[in-house]
Amino acid sequence: MRCFNSFRFRRETVVELTRARARGRTLFFRTSTCSTCHAVGKEGGTIGPDLTTIGAIRPGRDLIESLVLPNATIAQQFETYAIITDEGKAHQGTLARRSTETIVLCDASGAELRVRTDAIEQMAVSQRSLMPDGLLAVLDRAEIRDLLAYLQSLR
Ligand code: HEC
Repeated sequence: MRCFNSFRFRRETVVELTRARARGRTLFFRTSTCSTCHAVGKEGGTIGPDLTTIGAIRPGRDLIESLVLPNATIAQQFETYAIITDEGKAHQGTLARRSTETIVLCDASGAELRVRTDAIEQMAVSQRSLMPDGLLAVLDRAEIRDLLAYLQSLR
């Protein structure tokens, strides 16, 4: 019978998890471009919520839901605003700032959209997230597991 060394087994598991997180980080910052919208620490964009401590705030189940169904629950303060101007132009983005004269939206590319409040014909909070659906469709199972391991390690 082969000897089962539980100490070695545990060490390998830790090493494997560390590697999975590192691969997940690469997916986050490079392959899947999550970082164009999300920051972790000082790196990344501000279109979506800062994910520096997301692993402590959301259980794995919620993280998966955020990725598979971004529209199911929308993180607070990151609702998508849809504006139609008196010239018939449609704008959409998260609310960056507002004053009595202007509303500034942040669109999906990270650009600011400035709209004068007196030019607003219609404004509504959309039920859709600015985060695209199907981000996981291009990843295989192992990559999804790595990405999740990375997100869960952010505490
Ligand atoms: C085009 C911008 C964009 C991209 C790209 C994007 N996200 Fe998001 N994400 C958002 C926005 C906006 C929200 C907030 C609205 C919502 O909850 O859906 C969000 C929400 C989330 C949440 C939930 C946060 C919370 O506080 O509950 C997680 C987790 C997340 N994104 C992870 C990712 C990962 C991982 C990727 C890459 C695979 C990714 N996002 C790509 C814009 C983006």
